[in-house]
Amino acid sequence: MALDIKNLFGYAGKTVVVSGAFSGMGRAAAKLLSELGAEVYVICRRNGRHSELDFPIKKVLYADLGVKEDIDRLAEDLPEDIYALFLCHGIALNSDGSNTMEVQKVNFLSHKYLLEKALGKVADKGSVNIIASAGGFGWQDNFASCMEVINTKTYEDAIAWYEAHREEIASGYVFSKQCLCTYVKAKVHAPEFIDRKIRLNAINPGNTITGLTDDFNRGTSPTGNAEEGKAVIEALFLESWDGYWAAPEDMGYPLVAIGSQLFSYMSGQIIYFDYGMSSVWEFDALDT
Ligand SMILES: NC(=O)c1ccc[n+]([C@@H]2O[C@H](COP(=O)([O-])OP(=O)(O)OC[C@H]3O[C@@H](n4cnc5c(N)ncnc54)[C@H](OP(=O)(O)O)[C@@H]3O)[C@@H](O)[C@H]2O)c1
Repeated sequence: MALDIKNLFGYAGKTVVVSGAFSGMGRAAAKLLSELGAEVYVICRRNGRHSELDFPIKKVLYADLGVKEDIDRLAEDLPEDIYALFLCHGIALNSDGSNTMEVQKVNFLSHKYLLEKALGKVADKGSVNIIASAGGFGWQDNFASCMEVINTKTYEDAIAWYEAHREEIASGYVFSKQCLCTYVKAKVHAPEFIDRKIRLNAINPGNTITGLTDDFNRGTSPTGNAEEGKAVIEALFLESWDGYWAAPEDMGYPLVAIGSQLFSYMSGQIIYFDYGMSSVWEFDALDT
């Protein structure tokens, strides 16, 4: 029998959910999932920066993932029997750091809280697939603080933790992504995941041209100047390896693969898609 590439992924007719699906990596993932025959539910922030989708979807669920009540409603509205959940949303830190609390809420607390409320809707042997970031590199160094956030009992307790630990969250984006990396390691064999054989993985992308690029550029410049920030990012992360910016598909496509039955025995992994950048950092740290 000829190999059928669509069946290899196993998405045909399956329910999948994608956040951040109206732009960037999430959009690339959602489009491929749709092409692979999945029933694609997308989570969209009302009044967000998004365009029309040019591929079939099953339903749009509106939620601002920085708002607890929206997540409560979303958890109710999500479909049952989700074969793969893709959490692709995220925001950048402002150059003055003024939105660091919002960054924690959107980039980490929303994941933790939504999964606490709605993991029951993910099918047995399903997958949860998170976009973290190469910015989360070195999460081990902040392990204790990340675990304190992960172990908070309620949404309000997590907010109280952030408020009491302004120094820890000053790095904004970095701390939020380190929490995601730690979460994958902390939860992979937690009963709520392993008892139902739900796989949990994250990808850590490098610099990618998406809806966030200008925000990252502005956030990196002390004066909020996008061109200046872009030059800093390129000098820091791309010049050393004569590198180039990734496209959203460089991240969204492998994410879809990881969430599929192709990767049925992989869980608890944080996979870097950064053209080896983090490997060099790891090697250099060992080699000194
Ligand atoms: N681009 C990079 O270089 C890079 C590198 C490493 C990691 N990442 C991560 O990759 C993921 C995807 O981002 P992207 O680069 O593809 O950027 P993007 O095009 O801006 O996509 C991010 C998505 O998140 C959504 N979102 C933001 N805040 C939200 C909220 N409060 N509620 C609901 N949705 C919200 C955005 O919706 P709206 O349409 O409403 O804005 C957007 O669709 C993020 O987690 C990001 O941190 C990006």
